[in-house]
Amino acid sequence: MGLLGKGGHFSENGRNCKLRIDILGKLQRFMQVLGIETSCDETGIAVYDSESGLLGHSLFSQIDLHKEYGGVVPELASRDHVRRILPLIKKTLDESNTSFNKLDAIAYTAGPGLMGALLVGTAVGRSLAFSLSIPAVGVHHMEAHLLAPMLEDTVPDYPFLALLVSGGHTLLVHVNVVGDYKVLGESVDDAAGEAFDKTAKLLGLPYPGGPAISALAEKGDSERFHFPRPMTDRPGLDFSFSGLKTHALNTVNSEANDEQTRADIARAFVDAIVDTFIIKCRRAIKQTGLNQLVVAGGVSANKQLREGLITLMNEVNGKAFFPRPEFCTDNGAMIAYAGYLRIKSGQAESLNFQARPRWPIEALNL
Ligand code: KG4
Ligand code: ZN
Repeated sequence: MGLLGKGGHFSENGRNCKLRIDILGKLQRFMQVLGIETSCDETGIAVYDSESGLLGHSLFSQIDLHKEYGGVVPELASRDHVRRILPLIKKTLDESNTSFNKLDAIAYTAGPGLMGALLVGTAVGRSLAFSLSIPAVGVHHMEAHLLAPMLEDTVPDYPFLALLVSGGHTLLVHVNVVGDYKVLGESVDDAAGEAFDKTAKLLGLPYPGGPAISALAEKGDSERFHFPRPMTDRPGLDFSFSGLKTHALNTVNSEANDEQTRADIARAFVDAIVDTFIIKCRRAIKQTGLNQLVVAGGVSANKQLREGLITLMNEVNGKAFFPRPEFCTDNGAMIAYAGYLRIKSGQAESLNFQARPRWPIEALNL
């Protein structure tokens, strides 16, 4: 809705809020929220404005730092967040045409994730909010992934199903409304992203393995190898991906190590993952009667998975929703948005902030 002009400040529950007058002459509250993401190997910063949407976002990826180790080294990750976070906040505020004194709240990832990395974002976010006398809120990283598609033009209506596929988690969730989540299924061992990364390593591909294995699979022959679709032969919605990695290892060891063979293995691996998700999502749709599916988290950037799930949702006369590719992987925008929803509903962290490396999504409420 268009706005005629800026209003003043008022205090609600001890918080400063700004007012604008909308075109119908109604007083409207609006908010600008800074989002900070440091749960793993990406420093992500963004500013979300409740009226104009996303004002700006920046990301610093530590991939080059961790590449030579073939995975994230937690201590290096924390130290690099410390180096990057303040310059990145300043840059993002500038690029968003805003400043510290225009912010109404600060949201930071409080968990789940790497303890040291989380502590950087929580400490900086909470201290900044304290110094600016504005509220702060600790955001659940997987809830933020789940809500990332809400930053797009076409969004689902509640309730819907969400398939969250990241480097650390694989969750199939019944989303009733924001903050009301029921986990229908999850991985009993490796997360989907972890399976991509480990299998990529076996194939000699660089970290992170997801995008590399996906590109290699494009050149592979889907008829040459057939990998199992784990846990699809029994009822239920849980996943297991560690066996696929072992299957890939056995195939690598028993075949010639040429480029085509590696592409064929990548293809069999990707086909197995995509097929497994299609089977489980179809089952979840049947079980719940829901026909909207949100797919989010790093692996939702995967081309083959996106195509497979779009086809499935068309078949059931439903619709699949994804974040834009840059918001599939970790970013500050989803944190700013999820934080905005929580601040709007009156939640705020006390000064005694906490980082929660383990934090079940079902423990949330709003
Ligand atoms: O959500 P995310 O950025 O971080 C976590 O919260 O873990 O997810 C990272 C994971 C990595 O395992 C990475 O290999 C995977 O997402 N990934 C992909 C693709 N892009 C990132 N996996 C498959 N295909 C992709 N295109
Ligand atoms: Zn993530």
